[in-house]
Amino acid sequence: MAFLLKDWPTFAHEHQLPPGGDWAVWLMMGGRGAGKTRAGAEWIRARALGHGWTGEAGPAGRIALVGETYQDVREVMIEGVSGILSVHPKAERPQWNPSRRRLEWRTGAVAQAFSSEDPEALRGPQFDIAWADELAKWRNGEETFDMLQFGLRLGERPRQLVTTTPRAVPLLKRLIDMPGTTLTRAATRANALFLAPGFLERVVARYAGTRLGRQELDGELIEDRPDALWQRSDLDACRIAAAPDHLTRIVIAIDPPATATKRSDACGLVVAGLGEDGIAYVLADHSLARARGRPTGPGGRWRCGGTIRRTVWSPKSIRAATWCAR
Ligand SMILES: Nc1ncnc2c1ncn2[C@@H]1O[C@H](COP(=O)(O)OP(=O)(O)OP(=O)(O)O)[C@@H](O)[C@H]1O
Ligand SMILES: [Mg+2]
Repeated sequence: MAFLLKDWPTFAHEHQLPPGGDWAVWLMMGGRGAGKTRAGAEWIRARALGHGWTGEAGPAGRIALVGETYQDVREVMIEGVSGILSVHPKAERPQWNPSRRRLEWRTGAVAQAFSSEDPEALRGPQFDIAWADELAKWRNGEETFDMLQFGLRLGERPRQLVTTTPRAVPLLKRLIDMPGTTLTRAATRANALFLAPGFLERVVARYAGTRLGRQELDGELIEDRPDALWQRSDLDACRIAAAPDHLTRIVIAIDPPATATKRSDACGLVVAGLGEDGIAYVLADHSLARARGRPTGPGGRWRCGGTIRRTVWSPKSIRAATWCAR
């Protein structure tokens, strides 16, 4: 029985098997518990061992595994219940070397673990395939993804699988629109059979039809909050190439979070100017997640990241104001 369960194409849900066509990125967007990580781990296993059902001619030799943090790669993608080690039968299981962050298969295939906290680590190594998990949560998402693209240059057809719960972040939207991406979707209920009894009923009863439910259970990309003061499409319609050279007044609005923990809100920092035409122009948005320190009033020593935050913080040149009325 254990052996049969390892016969993945027989037991996989349809959304867990690679789509046809000549994709470079297979983007699997799904609800919580829909089976994304399991699908990723099974695809890596099949590619490392050269299983024919993936539709590829031979095994992959060099593999990149990328997650939000190194701990996520290790605890979810490699050692997790749906991770790479657990989907292998014992005899085929790769050797995991945590200190070198490497998995080695007997076939000679090697996978290396990377984190979105350290995109520079992707400078140098080369791969023929990659699996990226929960990309919509990545910290330096754009940079990490771009670094990975430069390294995906081995073999006849470098390919990558991105498994994620959707969030309306620019990187995910860019990926969806990228030529070469094939998008597949999966709702949590598709994997109901393998989730704890009662889990689905409980969360569906509570979240069905809500924004959070549509994102976390149906795997839908939710663009806007319906109660937001401005919708993204309205903002996009107002965009211009450059602000006027002469502005009568410049205001830097700062909305510091009340706390400074991992879960704190982002620190809003927006620069706007008033034109002679009476129109206000937003010049820059340097809002920052995980700002460090707290403001101690005008002139206080407080930093919120890169250059602009340091140079503008002087009591004469800026007004600290709470960003928009709440
Ligand atoms: N086709 C399948 N057959 C049997 N069990 C499965 C199948 N697909 C997924 N599972 C199991 O369902 C559970 C949830 O799957 P998984 O962890 O892959 O979901 P996920 O979408 O990554 O969840 P999360 O949103 O929390 O990251 C795991 O125990 C996994 O092994
Ligand atoms: Mg997962």
